[in-house]
Order: sequence, then structure tokens, then C-alpha cells
Amino acid sequence: MEFSIKSDSPESARCGCVVAGVFESRKPAAAAQRLDKASAGRIARILQGGDMEGKPGTSLLLHGVPGTSAERILLVGLGKEADFGDKAYREAMATAVRALKETGSRDALFTLSELTVPRRNAAWRVRQGALMVEDALFSSDQLKSKRNGSASLPGGIAFSVPLKDARAARGALAQGLAVSRGMNAARELGNLPANICTPIYLAQQAQKLAKELRLKCEVLDRERMEKLGMGSLLAVGRGSHQPPRFIVLQYTHGKARAKPIVLVGKGITFDTGGISLKPGAEMDEMKYDMSGAASVLGTLRAIAEMKLPLNVIGIIPAVENMPGGGATRPGDIVTSMSGQTIEILNTDAEGRLILCDALTYAERFEPECVVDIATLTGACVIALGAVASGLMANDDKLAAELLEAGQVSGDRAWQLPLWDDYQELLKSNFADIPNISGGRAAGTITGACFLARFTKKYRWAHLDIAGTAWRSGKEKGSTGRPVPLLTHFLMKRAGKL
Ligand code: BES
Ligand code: MN
Ligand code: ZN
Repeated sequence: MEFSIKSDSPESARCGCVVAGVFESRKPAAAAQRLDKASAGRIARILQGGDMEGKPGTSLLLHGVPGTSAERILLVGLGKEADFGDKAYREAMATAVRALKETGSRDALFTLSELTVPRRNAAWRVRQGALMVEDALFSSDQLKSKRNGSASLPGGIAFSVPLKDARAARGALAQGLAVSRGMNAARELGNLPANICTPIYLAQQAQKLAKELRLKCEVLDRERMEKLGMGSLLAVGRGSHQPPRFIVLQYTHGKARAKPIVLVGKGITFDTGGISLKPGAEMDEMKYDMSGAASVLGTLRAIAEMKLPLNVIGIIPAVENMPGGGATRPGDIVTSMSGQTIEILNTDAEGRLILCDALTYAERFEPECVVDIATLTGACVIALGAVASGLMANDDKLAAELLEAGQVSGDRAWQLPLWDDYQELLKSNFADIPNISGGRAAGTITGACFLARFTKKYRWAHLDIAGTAWRSGKEKGSTGRPVPLLTHFLMKRAGKL
């Protein structure tokens, strides 16, 4: 899809479709008013006729409106003007694309990007616009024998902005598209089934990415991990025929002495639960248990495309969690790379077991900070649903930065406490620490508490994306979250916002 920025008048735009907004109730936004004037009141008459209220999620397609140059005009409901904000803006964009896909429009001019969104500027509107359009056009058809793909709008989409904002908007468009490509890459990886997306496949994809974007990539096999003492990580893969891989990607465009930001992504390519086997219902969704890893790869793609002046390291422990003759049993005790011993009371709490060794490995980079991203707990889905990712951190400033990045990028997180009081729930009679607390209370926090025992040497934040990384049900599929949050955080760190 081709995107561009324009500052032409909507009535004289020669294109397949001009998209303009209508507030509730029947109040055309500025661009729609211009179209109305050019057509000698045609649009106002249609609205007065009762064809459209302006409710969010609605649209109305008009053909050959006299006095205007476009083949079509698509009116999109914006809801009440007084309530118009981030959410309504994003929804209007998505509604417009869904409606446009059903038309034969070759190309389109979006005037929605001219709307005033409180506290947001034109760059934000264009960045979010690109993100929403790409999101709505994404198709999970990579493994269908016939791809239905991106046949719509071959001529592309233009966002209109006031002339004074055009320069900033062009930069923002490039950013928005880089983030979209990172997000789409994460979604495609996430959607792949576990018979294709194995630990070795993830490592190959990382190597491909590294080659394309000139990153440094190192892949450690079982033997190397054994030498490093990653007894916890290796315990998880023992029941699987798929050998584990430990992937390290380095993006170094910052100052030579600038400490790196490390991203660690959970890469369980399939989570059966192991010997603590999961119930059968919806177990197919455990192919998404490598979504943290996919978000690290997607984020690295986005920031490398933007050439952000930063040093960023991506670490992905990639393992399949299966039952089998060699599998780890409940009660087994292993020694982690940190030296701490772990009593594995539940083999389904495997994410923390691979992450703890990756977090210890991260120490060698003397990181500025570390953020891990993991589909860690079902409890997080219960607490926050599909709206917000769970955020826990040992540093309040880092937490605040991530919350803000989520808010502005529309990929929100919500902080849960990591107080010492919760640490008391993690006690083992036989080892330094158990991998579960025994009860179901505060499951998301006790998961993070376990990780906190391995992150004492640096500033650290943990994103539990169990509820946000994919959608269930009819619209089942990977969302590409939290790539927008992470890239926004890094763009801000790089001074590019
Ligand atoms: N990958 C799952 C978490 C998960 C479950 C994500 C459902 C999304 C939907 C994780 O490995 C897991 O199994 N966690 C257990 C932890 C428990 C045994 C302490 C869980 O949440 O049930
Ligand atoms: Mn599990
Ligand atoms: Zn898991």
C-alpha cells in the first residue's frame, strides 16, 4: 500500500474516494462542510434526510456528488463532537478502511487526519492513521492456498493535513509505516502454527532479519546453553523433539559507550503445559505463546527501519513445552544460570523458567534497562482482559515511561504492584524458590515476583501480554501488540517524538 501526505482541497481532489467525517448529530466536520458547499448543499440534504446520524462505527457511501471531483465520497460517523478523542479518532479510521475495502475505489483521500484531536498534533494523527489503516487491511492469509491479500486500493491512500503541518506529517508517516511493518511482521510470526514456527524457525527468522537490516545475530544451541549453566531454560525443552535455541540480536546505532536497552521476549513456540498438561479447550491458542519473541523481532524491525540512534539488544529464549519421556516432572529441582535453585512445582509455569535465564544472561550487556515481554499468566487475562497489558517494574520512572508510551501509541498497559509482600508467597521447602506460589491469588504479580529475583542488578520492567497479544473467537489472530508501545518508548528515548 502506497501512502502520501496532501494538503489539497477535498472538493477538487481527483481520486476514487474522499473520506470525510460527520459528528453526531448530522454535523459535518470541516472537510465535509467544504464538500457540502461545493455540491450546493447536497451533503446537508442527505444528512437531513436521515441517512446518517454520525454515530461511531457507521458510514455512508455517496457516488458522483455534483461539484466535487472525486468518484465517491465516504462519510464516516465520528460520534459526539464533545467526546471526540484518541479512541473515536482511531475507530473512525478503522471504520473508513472497512467500508472502503467494499468499494471499487482505486485510491482515497482521508480528510479525517485534519480533525482536531485534543492534546494530539498532526504528526500523531498521521502516525495513528497509518497504523489503523495497515491494521484494518491486514489479512491472516499467509497459509491459505489462495491469498485474498491487499487487492484493495491499488492506488494508495493520502492523508490530508493543513499545509503548515505537511513536513512534520511526512516524517510521522514514515514512522507510522515502520511501526506498522514491525507490527505486521509480529502478527505473521504469531499466527504461524507450531509445526512451522519452531525454535529453529524463530532463529532462522532472526538471522534473516539481521541480514536484511544489518544487525548482529548470535544463536546458541543446547550445548552452549548447558555451558552457560542455563539449567532452568533447558528444563523446559526436555519433553520436546524440537531443540531449543537462544537468540541474541544487537542493533547498535547509538553512541559507542551508550548502555543498551535490552528487550527479552518469551519464545515458547507451543505450550502444552508439559507434564502439568493443559486442558484441551482452545489449546491451539498456545501457538501464540511466542508472541513476546515476535514483538521483540517486530520492534527491532521498526527501529532499524527508522534508524533510531540507540543501542538495543533483543534476547529470545525459544523453546517448545511438551510432555514426553524426557520431560521435566513436577517436583524436579534445577539450577538456574544465576545459581539460584528452582523447584518446578508446575511445568505449565514455564515462561518464567526460560525468562529467568535470559534475564541473567542480559547482565553481561550492562544494560541501561531491561524490558521483558511475555504471555506469562492466564490471570492477567482475568485482571485486564484484552484492553491493557499488565506492567510491573522495579523502577517507577521506567514504568511511567512505558505507561505513557502505551497511552500515546494507543497500545495501553496498566501497572500492578510488585510489593515485597507478594514475594512471601514464593516459598519452597526444598529449593531457593518454587516456580509457582501454590495458590491462585495475584497470579500475574507472583509470576513477576519470580522474575524479580533475577533482575536485581538493573532497572527492569515486565509486560504481561497474555490478554493483548492475540484475539480469540471469530476474529482469532495475532494483534502485533505491544510493538506500538515498545517502538514508541524507544522513539521517545531516541528523541524522535
Ligand atoms: N502461556 C501461559 C499463559 C497463558 C494462559 C496465556 C492462557 C494466555 C492464555 C503460561 O505459560 C501458563 O501456562 N501460565 C500458567 C501459570 C500457572 C501454572 C501458575 C497459568 O496462567 O495458568
Ligand atoms: Mn504454560
Ligand atoms: Zn506459556
